[in-house]
Amino acid sequence: MVKISPSLLSADFSRLGEEVKKINAAGADMLHLDVMDGRFVPNITFGAPVIRALRPAAPLFFDVHLMIDEPMRYLDDFAEAGADLITIHLEAARKVSQTLDAIRKRNCLAGLSIKPATPVTVLCPYLAQCDTVLIMSVEPGFGGQKFIPEATDKIRRLFSLREQLGLAFSIEVDGGINAETAPLCIAAGADILVAGSAVFTQSDYKSAVEALRNPMSPTPSPKS
Ligand code: DX5
Ligand code: ZN
Repeated sequence: MVKISPSLLSADFSRLGEEVKKINAAGADMLHLDVMDGRFVPNITFGAPVIRALRPAAPLFFDVHLMIDEPMRYLDDFAEAGADLITIHLEAARKVSQTLDAIRKRNCLAGLSIKPATPVTVLCPYLAQCDTVLIMSVEPGFGGQKFIPEATDKIRRLFSLREQLGLAFSIEVDGGINAETAPLCIAAGADILVAGSAVFTQSDYKSAVEALRNPMSPTPSPKS
């Protein structure tokens, strides 16, 4: 069964603790935390202190997506803040292999992400060091963008590479996931779907999560 990782980027930032509790009660498999530095991406969100403050709110798996330059500099902070999975961008790290290794040394799972223009083949030297590979299906930086359809080909390619190499990393997809695009990603081989606006714009988070996991479930209704 595919896992759903709601992205807190689309939550009500004035009530983050409550939002995390609601996502936990909605039966989400994990919580996606988008860290942006205003350099690697043209937006700034939150950092390790906010993640640390949210850690006691729920026993959710914390899926931390670092959209920051040279993430090696901040691994200690995010590991200590309570990250379970730390995903870095291939385009943002000078020493990708060393950074993935450093994440695992801090007892976190290691993830590697690529932007829409980066081909899957560039990931090959690092796949054996990855617990998760994150395919961006929008340009990183903002929630609520439109899904880039070529992402499904990248998921398919990654899926067959995983078979060929006999590896076991999870395939995660992030950006523009909704009731229409979720089934395409699942069919292509995605294991984890990140969804911000498709969950947080809905009045009932539980049915929003269910609708992504199982496209046959009843359609949720938007917040009024
Ligand atoms: C974009 C972030 C995504 C974003 C997804 O840079 O990495 O996680 O929150 O938002 P939606 O699901 O609204 O596209
Ligand atoms: Zn993300």
